[in-house]
Amino acid sequence: MVRNVDYKCWLNFAQMGGHPAAKRYRDQLDSICVLGDGPISRTVKEELGRGLSELTGKDSFAVHAEPQAETSVIAAVDYLENGGLLDEGYIVRAAKAGDKVQVVISSPSERGLLYGTFAFLRQLQAGRGLEKIDILENPKNELRMLNHWDNFDGSIERGYAGRSIFYNRNELVDDLGRIQDYARLLASLGINSIAINNVNVHYLETTFIEERLDLVKTLADIFRPYGIKLFLSINYASPMQLAGLETADPLDPDVQQWWIDQTAKVYEQIPDLGGFLVKADSENRPGPFTYGRNHADGANMLGRALKPFGGILIWRCFVYDCQQDWRDYETDRARAAYDHFYPLDGEFDDNVILQIKNGPMDFQVREPVSPLFGKLERTNQILELQITQEYTGQQRHLCYLVPQWKEILEFDTFAKGPGSTVDKILAGAIFEQSHSGITAVVNVGRDGNWTGHTLAQANLYGYGRLAWDPSLSAEQITDEWVVATFGHNEKVKHTVSKMLLRSWEIYENYTTPLGIGWMCNPGHHYGPSVDGYEYSKWGTYHRADHQAL
Ligand code: GCU
Repeated sequence: MVRNVDYKCWLNFAQMGGHPAAKRYRDQLDSICVLGDGPISRTVKEELGRGLSELTGKDSFAVHAEPQAETSVIAAVDYLENGGLLDEGYIVRAAKAGDKVQVVISSPSERGLLYGTFAFLRQLQAGRGLEKIDILENPKNELRMLNHWDNFDGSIERGYAGRSIFYNRNELVDDLGRIQDYARLLASLGINSIAINNVNVHYLETTFIEERLDLVKTLADIFRPYGIKLFLSINYASPMQLAGLETADPLDPDVQQWWIDQTAKVYEQIPDLGGFLVKADSENRPGPFTYGRNHADGANMLGRALKPFGGILIWRCFVYDCQQDWRDYETDRARAAYDHFYPLDGEFDDNVILQIKNGPMDFQVREPVSPLFGKLERTNQILELQITQEYTGQQRHLCYLVPQWKEILEFDTFAKGPGSTVDKILAGAIFEQSHSGITAVVNVGRDGNWTGHTLAQANLYGYGRLAWDPSLSAEQITDEWVVATFGHNEKVKHTVSKMLLRSWEIYENYTTPLGIGWMCNPGHHYGPSVDGYEYSKWGTYHRADHQAL
């Protein structure tokens, strides 16, 4: 496989080679000690050793079995007083040890140690003085997730960076090492969950929960040491497709029992599976509407099958009539998700989460924030963003989405007075929710640089950083990414940052200005086309003409 120079993305530690700080680190750091022998601790040990060697140019670091006074970096669960830390939070703190500096990474969990390790390496990439490191961080969002729209045949719906890194011709790819490299990239950002198949579940992917559980297990085994749980997109009509039942009615006892039994089989193989993700009654996918049931009936039935295993059911709110007539001025597609889900507020079980696209329509270049945020007061909810650049230049154009996401996250819903911003709702700080977080459709594929062009890597990086901490500024994230990817050249930093930060607005201006939306070519969505969707059945009319917008 071709591995481009930018294959390592932001974990390009060797870039630090010529930097004066790298020389200081070389003198200051010579040994590590990682306590714990769980799978994630082993990853911590590997990543610390590897990161430090690449950063300092030293071949290897002494590994101490127990912490000693002269150990340079110690990583251990509960090594420091962990007051104020959530399970996945961490402390990274330096202390003087003679003429050397000792850095301690401590967390209540192994996963937190992994995040602390990458946070430490990020500090070194930025060239910070070791002795100044003193960080205490908790993730703001519980669920920090990615959705793959990968199909089992190896194609990717709306993928612009080559074929799937997971599947090829209805099997797993041969290069499992690359999947591990991907897990590293995600763990370095604090991503803790991924859905491994397209929300449009075709027959072949329907079998993932039955005869292809071996494949899911292999993937789970690769991601587990990086602290990442798997979710499966499931087909609502599975009981009919796989077991020949005559219905998929959520209130039918046979259907309920089938899901209970099948879910138990899945958890027997993958006991730490995150759960299921469902696109139902949307764009011709099956769902409870066929049986006159609502989405709470549908989602709760699946949630109850997952409950005994601690699993979560994520249900998408992208539900609308995709058979509209353009002459129909009554049906307002932008209201659809709100009209379907707001009346059900409070009716979903506590292990069910609604997944809501950022805007009321569909990942346009610019959209208002979905009115469901701020209105659903008694329902677990997560935000769905799109990193893959379906409507934003398909990874051939530069369109850095972090400024767009910041605008969404900072939007004030006023749901509980001023300051009820979307990021706080997602973090579970405004309404009482048992689960919260953020997800996004990912932009990677088998291209040597993962994302089609190098600058599109910044969107994945930026998403991961915002999922961990939505209060980071676009500028800070951008600076971090440029330095981690290209090194410390000031001119490069200035030029690339500026290109990135202005690109969304520029893209909007030359494709869909004035917030109109939907001025793209139907089907593939590579625009612009002013009346592309104006007379189609998809309900996506901008209704702009010579008289009015
Ligand atoms: C968009 C996209 C589809 C996708 C859908 C979804 O409409 O074009 O390919 O399936 O979103 O989010 O389900």
